[in-house]
Amino acid sequence: MKNFILDVDTGVDDAFALLFAARHPEINLLGVTCVDGNTNLKQVVINTLKVLDAAEAGDIPVGVGATRPLIDEPRYAEHVHGKDGLGDMGYPESARKVDPRPAVELMRDLIEGSSDPVTLIPLAPLTNIALFLRAFPESAKKVERIVLMGGSASQGNATATAEFNIWHDPEAAAIVFQSGIPITMYGLDVFNQLRMNKSFSERLLATSHAPSTFGGRLIDAMLSRLNYEITLGDYGAVAVALYPELATQETMKVMVDTTFGPNRGATICDHRPEEFQERNYTKTWLEQNPGVQVCKTIKVDELRELWMETLSRP
Ligand code: BDR
Ligand code: CA
Repeated sequence: MKNFILDVDTGVDDAFALLFAARHPEINLLGVTCVDGNTNLKQVVINTLKVLDAAEAGDIPVGVGATRPLIDEPRYAEHVHGKDGLGDMGYPESARKVDPRPAVELMRDLIEGSSDPVTLIPLAPLTNIALFLRAFPESAKKVERIVLMGGSASQGNATATAEFNIWHDPEAAAIVFQSGIPITMYGLDVFNQLRMNKSFSERLLATSHAPSTFGGRLIDAMLSRLNYEITLGDYGAVAVALYPELATQETMKVMVDTTFGPNRGATICDHRPEEFQERNYTKTWLEQNPGVQVCKTIKVDELRELWMETLSRP
């Protein structure tokens, strides 16, 4: 059993991830924290609670976090995720209540209260995580690993070089990447490989099982909006946190571009041989930055079937 906390900006692909995390028998989903990103925070919370209903999840605490990035103005991705950030499917609002604690306090309490190691899985801009690291550094030391969806070792999506989650709050991302906590980066290089088409939604919609039909409707909503094969996106990060062997990974030094030029928000991934790296970084920096596990390839068929099976569980 693995203890996970998900930080989300739900978001269609965050929904794919939440459905999986709430239903997988080997995942102990301690809590979910919300941050603005794909859409505004209020809508992110509404969407997150709806998805937990659809997943038939138990009483999982949901914390409300940052309403905006540390420095930049928010810039939403409603052109991808729909006006409501969840494919405009019209599902009713949930009766679930949010946890009264701010997201960073909820994270602290869940980590401090867990007798087993906790993995943080941010699937969104890293504002909440950076605030947590700064507010509660002693609790942060107890985090076993951060497995994040964000960044790219190749090209970007928000800009030519920057991936959306990092671009939305580059300063927060820089704090997280320099935290010293072991990090796995599930970036765009693999994010875009996990494609779904109509044949998968048809399988899910052929059942009368509520989590499956919700997943099927989400796929269809995105297919009709974007009109091409869509990706399960953020879900892959949760799956790789649970089963690291589903991805090949390479250790790289990762720096976030926080300048205000055309590469703002890009993740500079250095995988040159050590003797070349040593020429650019100080000894101290190299000691403090042992490297990020960057996912390079994923087992697409296994990941897709794992998601389908997990949703379909009774
Ligand atoms: C990431 O940004 C959001 O649009 C998605 O939910 C995902 O986390 C992809 O760049
Ligand atoms: Ca997301």
